[in-house]
Parts: sequence; structure tokens; C-alpha cells
Amino acid sequence: MQQAPFIFFCRPGFESDCAAEVQAIATAHDLAGYANAQPETGYVRYYMFDQSSAEEFFGLLDLVDIIFARQWFWAKAELEDMPLDDRISPIIDICSELSSAKNVLVEHLDSGDGRELSKFCKKFSTPLTISLEKQNLIQEEGEFRLHVLFLANDHCLIGLSPLECSSPHKGGILRLKAPKDAPSRSTLKLDEGIQVLISRKQQKDAFRLGNTGVDLGAAPGGWTYQLVERGLQVSAIDNGPMDKKLMATEHVEHFKENAFTWLPKKPVNVLVCDMVEKPSLVANLMAEWLEGSHTQHAIFNLKLPMKKRFQEVADCIGLICERLEDADLDYFWQAKHLYHDREEVTVYFRLKTRVTPN
Ligand SMILES: C[S@@+](CC[C@H](N)C(=O)[O-])C[C@H]1O[C@@H](n2cnc3c(N)ncnc32)[C@H](O)[C@@H]1O
Repeated sequence: MQQAPFIFFCRPGFESDCAAEVQAIATAHDLAGYANAQPETGYVRYYMFDQSSAEEFFGLLDLVDIIFARQWFWAKAELEDMPLDDRISPIIDICSELSSAKNVLVEHLDSGDGRELSKFCKKFSTPLTISLEKQNLIQEEGEFRLHVLFLANDHCLIGLSPLECSSPHKGGILRLKAPKDAPSRSTLKLDEGIQVLISRKQQKDAFRLGNTGVDLGAAPGGWTYQLVERGLQVSAIDNGPMDKKLMATEHVEHFKENAFTWLPKKPVNVLVCDMVEKPSLVANLMAEWLEGSHTQHAIFNLKLPMKKRFQEVADCIGLICERLEDADLDYFWQAKHLYHDREEVTVYFRLKTRVTPN
């Protein structure tokens, strides 16, 4: 009998990368399974070969460890041809067989078909939640998140994820509004990157008022804007022009220099980099900054080629880790294919030893 699948949400077009990564995680834990990844669907189904492996997999999966997935859960049931005049009753029947959940997310995929279900999911969420509460299927002490993922208006998958290891946001998407005065829309990539990849505690450390930052490849200044908003004094490196309003804040110094050779006189608190360059070149540059302890925190994009994107990301991160280990430096890293990322992933590295003077 086929095991119940694990469901991983990803950006449409990245199903094979997400599947390759999930497969690598399973293999690293000596677990055997297989993926079903249909192009442009925005999700991957992953099947374990036996129940005990599936339980082990459920216990070890954590969203922070999966670069190409935005959300995940273990599907316990799939309902098709649901009666359109009462979709709640069959869902309640399934949920009464499951462990109790603390909350429920009614979700849809980020594909064209999925997005068409967005209004329905929003409307359906409140009556479903009320019904689940009435039946005591949602409880304050619940350890799990209940997921109801609609694939069509009469077809859904129902399952659970551990609260601390999945996203509290529907579909794992952190929706952000572009600030009116930001110089570019790519400002949202860094905003999301900071919120998703850097813990609150580390954000406090990185973005203390008066701290310093460097933005490599900064023009017109969408990323610099985020650093200035968070209280940093920023050196912006780019031959291109910076946004005038941003420069008028007097929190930015613009250096028209080559970002591959420029270095600060003193270590800085935060380095960001959004250059459209070969990922291995960016990875080597980031390794150089961290290895030389020129920054405490580094957040950067790796622009991805069209094929074998998971392998490329793994190689680039591996390269940085290897160089930091050779230099005897203790570090933390996390990476994610964010909602606002397109053909790129955002990576965060932090040196654990204090390197900055302030
Ligand atoms: C994608 S844009 C950065 C957008 C910016 N993050 C924003 O939000 O407005 C990349 C920038 O990198 C700059 N760039 C590319 N190679 C560079 C280099 N070697 N030195 C300095 N800047 C470089 C380009 O001039 C371009 O402005």
C-alpha cells in the first residue's frame, strides 16, 4: 500500500529542485522514499517506503533546513469530489481521527490554478475553524498545525506538521507591502530575508542604531533602504547611481568602486550583496569577507542557473562552510528560496565569534 505523502510547497518551476533537496535530506538520514514532482504545480509529494521511516521523517523535518520549500506537512487524507454544499463535514470526519492541533491553515498552492482558490480559501477558513473548535479538534494545548490544502474547490489534502517546524503563514508566504519611498521593489527580498532567516535576537544584534553596514552592488538602493530603515550607517558600493532621496538621509556613503575588491577600513556589523553574478563568484566573495572577519552578519543572493539549481546552491554553501572551517571560525547559516525571490535564493551567514568593534 502506498504511504501517505509528505507535501512540500515550492515556487512553481522549482519542483525538481525541491524534490532533489528532500531526497537528499532523506538519504542523509538513511531513509528511503521517492518524490512525485509535476512541473509548474508548485508542490512536491514525497512518499516513504514504510510507516516507521515516515514517522522518523516526520520527526526530523524542519522547514528551516529546506531551502526550496516554503511550507510542508504530512498528508493523512485526500478528499476528492467533495460535496460543494458541505465541505466541512468530511473534513471534520478526517480530523476526528488525527492528533489534536493548535490551529488550522486553509491553504492553496502558488501555481496559476492554486491562486484561483485564494478567495475561496480565505472565506472557508473562518467557518471551518469554528466547526473544528466546536468539536474540540483545535485545542490550546495541541502540538500540531492542521493543514487543509485545496487543490481544486472539491479536492483537498489534510495533514499535520509540528508547530515549531513549519510556517505559521498560509502556504509559507510572508506577505509584505513595498514601502512607497523604497528605490526598488527588490527591497522586499531583503525585508523578507531578514525576517525569515535572522532570529529576533540576532536581528537586535545586527540592527542596533548606529551599527554599520555594506551593500555590495547597491544601486538604486532597495536593499540599502532596508538597512537604513533599521538604523544602520551604510557604505553603498556600485558604479550606478543611488536614489537621491535615500542619499539625502545622510545615512549612506556611496563608493563608485568594484564590489569584488572594495573592503571597509573597519569590520562592519552587516554585509548585504545582490549582484547579478555567477553564484560561485559571489560565494567566494562572501567567504572572503567572513574569513577575514570583515563582517559579523552576511545576507546575500545566489542567482541560479536554469538547471540543477539545488546542486549549485549546495556547492556554493559548501564552499563557504569549508573555507570558514579551514579558518577555524564558528558560524551559523540558513538559506531559503523566498517568496520574493525568483531565479535566486537568499543566504544568511553569521560568525559566532564577535568581530565588530561596537
Ligand atoms: C540587482 S542590482 C541591485 C539592486 C539593489 N539590491 C536594489 O534593491 O536596488 C545589481 C547591482 O550590482 C551592481 N554591480 C554588478 N557588478 C558590480 C561590481 N563588480 N561592482 C559594483 N557593483 C556591481 C550593478 O551595477 C547593479 O546596480
